[in-house]
Amino acid sequence: MKRVLSGIQPSGQLTLGNYIGAMQNFVKLQETHQCFFMIVDLHAITLPQEPAALREQSEAVAALFLAAGIDPAQASVFMQSHVPEHAELGWIMTTASYMGELERMTQYKDKSAGKESIPAGLFVYPTLMAADILIYNADLVPVGDDQKQHLELTRDLAQRMNQRYDTELQVPDPYIPQTGARIMSLDDASKKMSKSNPNPASYIALLDEPDVIRKKISRATTDSGREVRYDPSEKPEISNLMAIYAHCANMQVSDVERAYEGQGYGAFKKDLAERVVEALEPLQARYHDIRQSGELHGILRKGAAEAREVASTTLRHIKDKMGFVLPQ
Ligand code: AMP
Ligand code: TRP
Repeated sequence: MKRVLSGIQPSGQLTLGNYIGAMQNFVKLQETHQCFFMIVDLHAITLPQEPAALREQSEAVAALFLAAGIDPAQASVFMQSHVPEHAELGWIMTTASYMGELERMTQYKDKSAGKESIPAGLFVYPTLMAADILIYNADLVPVGDDQKQHLELTRDLAQRMNQRYDTELQVPDPYIPQTGARIMSLDDASKKMSKSNPNPASYIALLDEPDVIRKKISRATTDSGREVRYDPSEKPEISNLMAIYAHCANMQVSDVERAYEGQGYGAFKKDLAERVVEALEPLQARYHDIRQSGELHGILRKGAAEAREVASTTLRHIKDKMGFVLPQ
């Protein structure tokens, strides 16, 4: 069975962008692949986190994975920090990377822009992400469009290690949805929807109440004109809303376009709000059940044990090939 690995940072409230860009594919892939899905808490601390918030958000992301439909009997769900091999291979990958290639990462440039002092962890972030992926010899990595460049680097590092040390690391492929790989902000279609945006009206959080969702969608900016037509370059705002509609209603964007032919933005937005509410309500109900059930920690313990078995084997292989004296 081919392997899949992905991760989401517990650095804020998960949004509809995370759901459509990444989590919906997690749920699909678990049927046909051996899957590892983690809460990347070690990545979240590349920017300072308030300890109580980090703990709460980490548990919330784990519960949202399960609420979205990830089945712990099929996939391993775990905290990155529960598998210490990630950090160790992360260091090794840092030594295999060049300053120049890390300086080119656009996420680094965006996140460090305007900062007086830039945390070193933010700079080496992609080397830890490469370790996350390579330690499972993952074939596929379901992510949104913004992670493509990190995946390219991961592929380069895998090839570099294989050439230099004769390791047998799998060179992974990204798995990116055709529409919805980049859900944009509700207030500005030139920026991606992000949990770290200080304006909560710019995103829909997966745990937003129905009335909050209705209000945010009714206030979402729309392009001039009134035609509900999918055209991301000419009509970026309405096209973004149409992609959200399609994913929440399980339709193609072309069907959404046909359904709203001749109708204006108002009717479309009203229905869109209901589609989003309908998609999130069952997820939210399951989320609250999971948080109350007290089962979360047992599931994470099992997931980490499954993950460690694979991770420790790969790490041992790499260290052996590199010339480390292995403990006998
Ligand atoms: P992050 O929140 O940065 O940890 O991202 C977790 C996953 O969600 C990654 O695969 C991202 O590419 C994806 N993602 C985040 N924001 C969006 C968005 N606005 N549209 C599509 N995918 C997204
Ligand atoms: N860098 C990813 C993001 O910001 C999160 C991440 C960390 C990840 N490790 C990963 C994604 C491994 C896929 C695979 O979204």
